[in-house]
Parts: sequence; structure tokens; C-alpha cells
Amino acid sequence: MDLRERVLESLKNVLDPEIKKNLVELNMIKDIEISGQNVLITVTLTTMGCPLKDKIRKDIIDEVKKIEGIENVEVAYGEMTKEQKQQLIQKLQGKGERKNPFINTRIIAVGSGKGGVGKSTVTANLAAAMSSLGYKVGIIDADILGYSIPQIMGINKEKPTFIEEGIIMPIEKQGVKVISMGNLLERDEPLIWRGPMLGQVLSQFIYDFYWGELDYMFIDLPPGTGDVPLSLMQSLPKAEILIITTPQITAASVAKRLGLMAAKTNNEIVGVIENMSYFICDNCSEKHFIFGKGEGERLSAELNAEYLGDIPLMTSIREGSDKGNILAGDTNTEIGQIYNRIAKKLGHLN
Ligand SMILES: Nc1ncnc2c1ncn2[C@@H]1O[C@H](COP(=O)(O)OP(=O)(O)OP(=O)(O)O)[C@@H](O)[C@H]1O
Ligand SMILES: [Mg+2]
Repeated sequence: MDLRERVLESLKNVLDPEIKKNLVELNMIKDIEISGQNVLITVTLTTMGCPLKDKIRKDIIDEVKKIEGIENVEVAYGEMTKEQKQQLIQKLQGKGERKNPFINTRIIAVGSGKGGVGKSTVTANLAAAMSSLGYKVGIIDADILGYSIPQIMGINKEKPTFIEEGIIMPIEKQGVKVISMGNLLERDEPLIWRGPMLGQVLSQFIYDFYWGELDYMFIDLPPGTGDVPLSLMQSLPKAEILIITTPQITAASVAKRLGLMAAKTNNEIVGVIENMSYFICDNCSEKHFIFGKGEGERLSAELNAEYLGDIPLMTSIREGSDKGNILAGDTNTEIGQIYNRIAKKLGHLN
């Protein structure tokens, strides 16, 4: 291998930080000029304003400097032409018909019989727990009018990166890829506002964003079993439904409606999680079942679904979601351990 080939080979170890594919595969290496022990590498970016160009530059230098016989590495930038961007999109999306990006992904639609049960909080924490188990995880906040995921995950000031129509990079937090209407609202993007229907927005979240290969995609549905969650479910590829409930909500009052929703959309209910199950006060280690006991288990029995576990009422959970700090990814914490058990059950790991 000559020096140029070795440089090219080493650039295969440098990933585009957003697309997570290597620069050579993405056709982003425009030129390699070598003179003596110096090399100048020209990289084509999707846009000159690319916020990550310093990172790309640093990663290139770190990698290429490892090559024996190279002393100095310089990086110059160019911008992709319209055609090159189109090629990139084709490469990322596959040719021809729009493919389902989730062929190998378990889509978990998180629903509830009623509002305010902690559905969004559980979605965010469970996603973080799944991610800490090593899965590739995403969240789509399908509560388009009542979104709360950006607040809970501490990303409400962040925006997705628009590369081109059909290629938008979701936001990434603690290894989880996320998009919510809350991250788009100030932006006057016709792409997102194309249709008035919420289902269409959800389809855009699914198909116009670049998700890569995910193991799990969590969909935070609007609360309840009315028309809105139902029609949203209908615009999803085949999903499994995960139900969040509290001990306060009687199983009998919601089981029938949840069962009907699953039947109408032809999706299976994969499990039930009981949230706000009990409270452990500071002065004793006893569990206080403030809202009653056993309704989560009863609901899972009624729905013929697995009972995945319960989550206590904890001040730290409420504070975490108020501050945008998801705690469940850390198994050194009590919350992390509780979610870790539930995540393993969902992933059939035990
Ligand atoms: N286990 C818990 N311990 C303490 N507080 C919790 C717990 N779960 C959720 N909360 C708090 O309860 C409130 C409601 O939670 P969240 O917004 O997740 O509910 P939701 O079901 O998504 O509501 P909506 O129906 O509005 O979508 C939030 O303030 C949240 O921090
Ligand atoms: Mg919610």
C-alpha cells in the first residue's frame, strides 16, 4: 500500500459524527495531497456551516497522524454540490421507493388509558435504560400538541440538523435519538407544516428523519384511547403497545378501551408498567401504597399482557424530569436499577 492508500484506509476509521458512517463510504473525501511527510485532506461537508466540522477535523488529524511517515496533517473543507447531496440521500435511504426504516426495529408505542400517569417520564427513562443495555434507541414524541419529551430530556432549546429534505438528523441525548414537535416549533420549515394532519407529522418524523439502524423506537402517544392516539397508531408501521398506568386507575375502567384500541390498529399489547406505585419516605424503608395496590397487575391480566414491573413515586424522578435530567441510564442509582429490570424484561434478557 502506498502512503496515499494508507491515508485513505485510515479515513475509513473516521465517522461523520451525525450520520455515523465513515467519511470514505460517504464520499466525503474530496482530495488527499501528500508532499513529503505532510498531508492535506480536503473534506466535503453537507454544508459549510456544519456545526461539527471542528470535530471532524480533529478526528481526521488524530487518525491520520497514527500513520508512520506522516508528520503534519491539515484539513481543508469543501461543500457538497446539489448532486452530491442527492447521492448521499440515496445512499442513506436506499434507492427507489421509500423503505420502512424500521424493518429490524421494535417499535414500542407507549400509551395510557388516561392522562398524567407519567407516560412521557417513563418513556424517556425506559429509553435511557434500554440504551444503557447497549441497544440503539430512539424516541418520537407523538404527543404533537401536548409534547413534553424535550423538557423531560433537557433538549428544549435544541434543534435537529437539516441536511436536505428527507435527511434530518434527530437530536441525540444520552445515546438516545429524539424528535418532538417542541424541537421544531420556532422553525418555519414547510417540510414539517406540509399537512394539517397530526398523522402526517408523525409520518414525517418517521420517514424524513435519518434514524440509522435502531433496535428500539419508542413512540410517546398522546394520552387516552380517543381518536387522536388511535389515528396516530394507524400511521405507524407495525408496533407493540406498552401501557403505563397508576394504581389509582382501576383496571376495569380502562382495560376494555385499551384492548379495543389495540384490536382496531391490529397491534399487540406487549406489557403493562405501573407507575407511581408506592412511596418510600425518608424515615422508614416501608412502601406506602398511597393510591392502592395491584391495579397494574390486574390490568395486565385483563389485557393478557406481561406485567413488566412497577416504579415508585420518587422526588428524584419528578425533579429529574423538571430539570431535564434523565436518571434511569445509570444503574448505580435506585431509579437506574428499577428501570434496568424493566428494560431487561422488555428486551427478553432474563
Ligand atoms: N414515578 C414518579 N415519581 C414522581 N413523579 C413522577 C413519576 N412519574 C411521573 N412523575 C411526574 O408526574 C408528572 C406527569 O408525568 P408525565 O408528564 O410523564 O405524564 P404523562 O402521562 O405523560 O402526562 P400527559 O397525559 O400530559 O402526557 C410530571 O411532573 C412527572 O415528573
Ligand atoms: Mg405525556
